[in-house]
Order: sequence, then C-alpha cells, then structure tokens
Amino acid sequence: MKNFFASCPRGLEETLNQEATRFNFNHVEITRGGLNFKTTPLNAINFLLETRVASRVYKEIGSFDFRNEKDLAKNAMQIPWTKILNPDDTIKITSLFSREVMGKFKNSHYLSLLLKDAIVDTFVEKAGKRPSIDLDHPNFPLLLRIEPSPKKGELRGIVSVDLAGHSLHLRGYRASGHEAPIKENLAAALLMNTSWNKEVPLYDPFCGSGTFLLEGAMMRYQIAPTYIKLLNRKEGHYSFAFERQKWFQKDQAIKQPFENLCEELIARAKNGISNAGVGEFHGSDIVADPIGMLMEAWQTIGLPRKSLRINVINALDVQPDDNFSNGVLITNPPYGVRLEEKDEKLEKLYYDIGESLKNNWKGFNAYIISQEAIYRKKISLRTSMRMSFYNGSLECRLLGYELY
Ligand SMILES: C[S@@+](CC[C@H](N)C(=O)[O-])C[C@H]1O[C@@H](n2cnc3c(N)ncnc32)[C@H](O)[C@@H]1O
Repeated sequence: MKNFFASCPRGLEETLNQEATRFNFNHVEITRGGLNFKTTPLNAINFLLETRVASRVYKEIGSFDFRNEKDLAKNAMQIPWTKILNPDDTIKITSLFSREVMGKFKNSHYLSLLLKDAIVDTFVEKAGKRPSIDLDHPNFPLLLRIEPSPKKGELRGIVSVDLAGHSLHLRGYRASGHEAPIKENLAAALLMNTSWNKEVPLYDPFCGSGTFLLEGAMMRYQIAPTYIKLLNRKEGHYSFAFERQKWFQKDQAIKQPFENLCEELIARAKNGISNAGVGEFHGSDIVADPIGMLMEAWQTIGLPRKSLRINVINALDVQPDDNFSNGVLITNPPYGVRLEEKDEKLEKLYYDIGESLKNNWKGFNAYIISQEAIYRKKISLRTSMRMSFYNGSLECRLLGYELY
C-alpha cells in the first residue's frame, strides 16, 4: 500500500470523502482541500478514473526532513531519484506550504527550484543524462508539500507525483479554451449535496454551457467522468500522465487490470447511454450561444438528443413540463463581479427568482448557487439547506428550497 492525496475544491472535502467510501481506502484523513489515504496503486487509479469530485490525485514518492532552504536540496537527494525517474522524463515542480509553515519562506517557486537542483544533481552524479523541464505537458508533474516535521525545529518535504497530469475537472467534453463559469467537478459535487436521486428530471433555467446538466447526465447514465479520455486511449493516445511514469510502466501486474477497468467503464457508459429516456434534462438560458456549447458537449459524450430539452427563454418564465409533478432545479444565476455598490437589477432578479420558484415550481426541490449575501437575501423563501464552499477563491453558498 502507498500514500496518496486527492485534492478537491475547498468546502467539498466531506463530499469527496463520502464519494471515496466505496473504494475502502485505509488511514483516511480529511485535510483542508482534500484527502490523505493509503491504498494500492491500482485502487488509486480506479478512484482517479471514477471520481467526480477530486481535482487531482497524487501518489507519494518520498519525503525528507530539512531545517532551512540551504539544506533542502542536499536532503532531497536522499530520495532515490534515479530509480524513480528515467533520464528522458520531463518534470515540472509545484510547491505548496501547509498553513503552519506559511510565512517561513519567501516564495514557493524558489523551493521548486531547489528541488529541481536536487534531482538534476543526483542524475548528473549517477547517470550523466538528466530529466528536462516541461512546464506544459510533463509526464512527471511533481508536487512538493512542506509541513512541520515531527522532529523539533525541522520541516518535512513530501514529494508526490500527479497521476493524471491535468486537473480532473477537464472531462474532455468541451473544446480546450472553453472554461465553464463553474468547474465540472464542483458542479458534480454540488449536485451530490442536493436531494436529486438521479431518477427525477433535472432543470437548470440559467444553464449557460450546461455544466450541471452534463454532470447530472453522466451521473444518471453511469458515465465515468474520464469516459472521453478512456475513449481517446483507444485511439492510441496517452490520456493520463501515469501511463508514462516509470512506476506504472515497471509494474507488470497493474497493466492488464488497468486495461480491464478501462474496458469495463466504457461498457458501463455505453449501456447507460443506451438506456437514456426522454426529457430527463432541461436547460434554458436567455442567450442562445452557451446553449450551443451544451449541445456540442452533449453530442461529444454521445448522449441522445431526446434526453435533453432546451429552450432560449427568460428563466422567470420557465415552468416545469406538465408531465412531471416533481423534480430538481439547480442553477447558478448571474452574480456579477464583486461590486462596491450593489446592482439593483440583480437585486430585482433574485427577488423575482424567489417569486417564480414559489409560483411555478410547486413540488420541486430547488437549489441556487449564490455568491453575494446582498442578492440571496432577496429570495423570500425559507431555506431547507445551506452549504458553504469555494469557487476558486470566492466563498459561495448552495441554498436549498423545498417548494410546496
Ligand atoms: C453564471 S452563468 C451560468 C453558468 C452555467 N452554470 C454553466 O455551466 O455555464 C449565468 C447564466 O445566466 C444567463 N442569464 C442571465 N439572465 C438570465 C435570465 N433572465 N434568464 C435566463 N438566463 C439568464 C446568462 O446568459 C448566463 O449564461
């Protein structure tokens, strides 16, 4: 068993922990921004392929204690780098400090440079040729975390490798460069905190590029979040950095089970897609363009057109389909940017959202993502749940309403 760390959007650590339950990890520890756990590399890869909440999954490769910047590089050479890396590997190093250590160092970039020196010096001494730096597509992206050491007066450097090599919110259903206002793993994690049981229709009347609907469809039809990446692998591409990492390539016992797992997840998704029903997802927006992005992504996943209803319409005029007396609505209405002065139009919009929920959505559970207290207070409905989380550095709330 090895040590792993999975990161996630802040505020959703408990959701990640719940999602991880079925993987039976050992020594699970919830930390700020993620989970530490122990498991086998194959089980960690299985988790990486199936987690909808994690941003990245890291495998620990070594650690060392040090007192100051000066002896960081020297002590980091205790890690057997030439066994871990190939000389033709490409690396990138990111450094992070735990909260207790913050302020002890000028900047994290300098620590990354020191670790790079340690790696390079080890290779020059022992192998002649050395790994090179690639800031865009390294096959060996490293994370150096600095924490207090149990040894008095010392710090501990923990070095891990990023297994996917990209943030897992990038599902592959959007062309690169099209970032949704809400990250895919955050949207999935928020959906998991609602009462949606995947069996009733899901509505988003401010759907934009449709992240909630796309994530909901992947959940309902049992499509792994890495499904598109798994399909790309079949075309002969490497989809995950670990496929090009020495530890994985050396381990003959892991390769076939990994291939089987990929096949299993593809088969499960195809089966889920073939069972999709009519009108199970409803998206609308006042602007047509983002809805075009939703439809493109829907097609990229291979979801049937019949399961999605779309409309260009003011959210305040949307009513649920007559055939359904209940369902779930989840949406993030416009929130503006942090304003010095409140925006009266937005205040009115939030008031109207409350009124429309009351009048048009009886029998539904509605969930609103809100960033600014001044606007959410305009919704004159009692909340049935509220949860705080971070979208990047912005503190937001998920507010639930049961509508009778
Ligand atoms: C914060 S974005 C939603 C982003 C979305 N969750 C996504 O995944 O792309 C808000 C959306 O509300 C839409 N919008 C603004 N006013 C609206 C209104 N009155 N009715 C419907 N949509 C509206 C905007 O066009 C925008 O796409």
